Amino acid sequence: MTTQQGIARVPRHVAIIMDGNGRWAKKRMWNRLRGHREGAESVDIVTEAARMAGVEYLTLYAFSTENWNRPADEVSGLWDLLGDFLEKKKAKLLNNRIRLHFIGHMEHLPEKTREKAFRVKRETEENGWDMTLTLALSYGSRDELAYALRTVAEKVKSGSLRTEEINETLISEHLFTAGLPDPDLIIRTSGEVRVSNFLLWQSAYAEYYFTEVLWPDFREKEFLDALRSYAGRTRRFGKTDEQLKD
Ligand code: IPE
Ligand code: IPE
Ligand code: MG
Repeated sequence: MTTQQGIARVPRHVAIIMDGNGRWAKKRMWNRLRGHREGAESVDIVTEAARMAGVEYLTLYAFSTENWNRPADEVSGLWDLLGDFLEKKKAKLLNNRIRLHFIGHMEHLPEKTREKAFRVKRETEENGWDMTLTLALSYGSRDELAYALRTVAEKVKSGSLRTEEINETLISEHLFTAGLPDPDLIIRTSGEVRVSNFLLWQSAYAEYYFTEVLWPDFREKEFLDALRSYAGRTRRFGKTDEQLKD
């Protein structure tokens, strides 16, 4: 079955490392925040394109644990932008039956932004959903794994868990992404070819797609190009081509 856009096989879960906002602004001699603002438009457009294509889970890396080291005015500008964005796009999320979800240390966000984020999340949950939009905020994969390990160790210590019960499923259940399927496709924009501490455990068998396009220029066409690339790949999961035909 192909989608309206002519895509043969749509990934169930797409995750994106949205990169290049700063360079997009710099090229125009603008402030970095203008790049982030234009990047927010791409978030809106790509979310809609994903919904139309039938993607069930879209996860966007919006702020890493390392991004706290940026200049304070950029950091606060990003949180303000997120608050405004959620306010502006709430109705659209509800109309399109998109549930908002978060991974990362939400407790580190400024209180005002966090409250707004959780309010919109709750409303979208109550509304019902066909797609889940997950924003990774103050997220770092190593931090997530350390946190999971600590929780599991506490459970063993208190006697509620036996070490023999620790397996891959149990580890997945202790990550921020518990309840979300592993990503099928991970896109990174802006020409950087690295993962920058994103979904290290969850991406074990993800397909990667790297593009030179800067995030503010990454719109519907660019997203569909990535989906087409994915549709043309063979995922073997360790098997041979012959086995896949059976
Ligand atoms: C991605 O764009 C957005 C965030 C990491 C918040 P950048 O801000 O990293 O843009 P570049 O990499 O400096 O161009
Ligand atoms: C990765 O982008 C983090 C997000 C997209 C939120 P960065 O721009 O922070 O990544 P590095 O530091 O260049 O690897
Ligand atoms: Mg960057």
